[in-house]
Amino acid sequence: MSQKIQSMFGRIAGTYDEANHSLSFNQDISWRKSSVAQMMKDGFVPSKVLDLCAGTGDFALVVKEKAPNAQVVLADFSKPMLVLAKNKGGAQTGLAYVESDALKLPFPDMTFDTVVCGFGMRNLDSLEKGVKEMARMLRPGGKAVVLEFFKPTGLLAGLSYVVYVNAIMPMRGGAISKDKDAYNYLRDSAKGFVSVKEFKQLLEKNGFKDVHIESRTMGVAHSVVAVRK
Ligand SMILES: C[S@@+](CC[C@H](N)C(=O)[O-])C[C@H]1O[C@@H](n2cnc3c(N)ncnc32)[C@H](O)[C@@H]1O
Repeated sequence: MSQKIQSMFGRIAGTYDEANHSLSFNQDISWRKSSVAQMMKDGFVPSKVLDLCAGTGDFALVVKEKAPNAQVVLADFSKPMLVLAKNKGGAQTGLAYVESDALKLPFPDMTFDTVVCGFGMRNLDSLEKGVKEMARMLRPGGKAVVLEFFKPTGLLAGLSYVVYVNAIMPMRGGAISKDKDAYNYLRDSAKGFVSVKEFKQLLEKNGFKDVHIESRTMGVAHSVVAVRK
């Protein structure tokens, strides 16, 4: 686990939501909603859900809105992020909070039928280990939902992504959090990440099938839904 990344997220936790909504012009809210709709559109109803790299809990809360009976575990290695998530979750039932490294989750194999991960995968020390751990968590037929800033491949996607990741993210994020280094890191982690096609191949190599990709806001972000074999 990278302690540098853990402490960086701890530092920006208090301003994370404001920065997120501001730098995405509130699009992050609809990106999470569309990702959950994408996962449920064939009639799949999640019942035991892991929100991996849960941060302040926004993905988990969208899942609860669309599947109110689901039990959702929010896992993150940043305590300050989880404290904010707990406050947001309030007295809602069916939410649990676990401080844990995404690469060494404290759950037996096949504990969940759904894993959601919003903007978390690109922070992991090893992307492949992260995908393997997601696969380990899921029962056969379960679904992984990953929302991320993938390296663009098309021209239009490239343009929107470049403006967003290179300019808006570090400038607005840095200004709101007063932590330029953190948002420069987030920019660099996006720029160094894989393309959505490469991520699809990694999923298929590590126990997933039926990988379905949707582009968000002209390719700035993508949601990937995959079924555990
Ligand atoms: C960019 S935030 C995303 C938060 C939230 N999922 C969202 O949709 O806004 C990334 C989160 O991943 C967590 N994280 C990064 N690396 C992690 C790891 N190795 N294990 C557990 N959590 C991790 C950070 O603490 C942070 O809360």
